[in-house]
Amino acid sequence: MTSTGAPSERPQDESVPKHSTSAHEKRMAHEQLAVCCLGQVEGKAVLITGCDKGFGHALAKQLHAKGFTVFAGCLQTGENGARELESMQSDRMKVLQLNVCSDQEVAQAVEFVKKKLKEPEKGLWGVVNNAGVTTFGDVEFTRLDKYREVADINLWGTVRVTQAFLPLVRRARGRVVNVSSMYGRIVSPSRSCYCVSKFGVSAFSDCLRQEMYRWGVRVILIEPGNFMAATGILTRDGVDARGEELWRGASKTVQEDYGKAYITHQITQMKSFVGSGLKDMSLVLNDITDALVSKRPYNRYNPMSAYWWVKLHIMAHLPTAVADWLYIR
Ligand SMILES: NC(=O)c1ccc[n+]([C@@H]2O[C@H](COP(=O)([O-])OP(=O)(O)OC[C@H]3O[C@@H](n4cnc5c(N)ncnc54)[C@H](OP(=O)(O)O)[C@@H]3O)[C@@H](O)[C@H]2O)c1
Repeated sequence: MTSTGAPSERPQDESVPKHSTSAHEKRMAHEQLAVCCLGQVEGKAVLITGCDKGFGHALAKQLHAKGFTVFAGCLQTGENGARELESMQSDRMKVLQLNVCSDQEVAQAVEFVKKKLKEPEKGLWGVVNNAGVTTFGDVEFTRLDKYREVADINLWGTVRVTQAFLPLVRRARGRVVNVSSMYGRIVSPSRSCYCVSKFGVSAFSDCLRQEMYRWGVRVILIEPGNFMAATGILTRDGVDARGEELWRGASKTVQEDYGKAYITHQITQMKSFVGSGLKDMSLVLNDITDALVSKRPYNRYNPMSAYWWVKLHIMAHLPTAVADWLYIR
């Protein structure tokens, strides 16, 4: 068991293969998936945010290879990630400037997509809200501005992009796929900034999912586990810089009570986390693809290692006192 959608949430359709453990089985399952659903992909277009690198960049290529027209939103269109996608010189790979924090850029993206769609009256099949950042730091060390900054991208960016594209997605009776995190379901010390933003994404998606049934639009959550080693979301340099910021930003009282050694230890811990987790991001990419192509997608997907899957379910379902005793105290 390396990746799990909650089986109870998928209506009876077993035509899409479940995730399997070996690389060979994974590839077979993925090819089967492509075969059983390819007919539906042709002519469909998907907008993805955060395609400069990481999951978004790889997903743009994977969906393009499957036959989708991809609108690849990039934070910096002049940089390597965007250039690489442009260099594919494909009519079905359309790179656009898209900072999810900017009302103006999001509005321009909607106009761009409308203009480029072959049949705009049929709408846009999918939006994948992938753009995101992470950070760490205990509550007493974290300034309110940091909470705002992270939520601005992860949460309000998701809301902004979704609202702007929903009329097009409703027209297509399509899909909204929101990349949350296991930290949108469970929490961890020093991750409150990130957890607050991802719990928000989960709540937003759950409400929208219920609102959208009447329109035939599916709203799907992807809750990846630890893929730090696979993407560039946190770097060793980034950890050093953040550690320094935490210490400098703390009040005198907090500095005296916790001591510098506390932050030094946290930096060491976070650095070991940087290279940890799954190195292969295909579980995430395949789950997002399934969410877009399956006739009956799950409401939530949990691409993660068995360790995190067990921890997620223990922490999410057992009484908090028991879960904390097992994992935290
Ligand atoms: N990696 C993991 O272990 C993990 C686990 C759970 C969930 N996730 C979630 O998965 C998503 C993708 O993460 P990743 O690991 O692929 O991270 P990543 O490699 O850092 O990629 C994130 C992407 O988002 C872009 N971005 C940042 N701020 C943006 C903004 N304001 N507007 C538009 N794009 C912006 C980044 O652009 P630049 O490169 O230019 O900064 C980058 O292309 C995130 O939502 C993250 O929270 C990741």
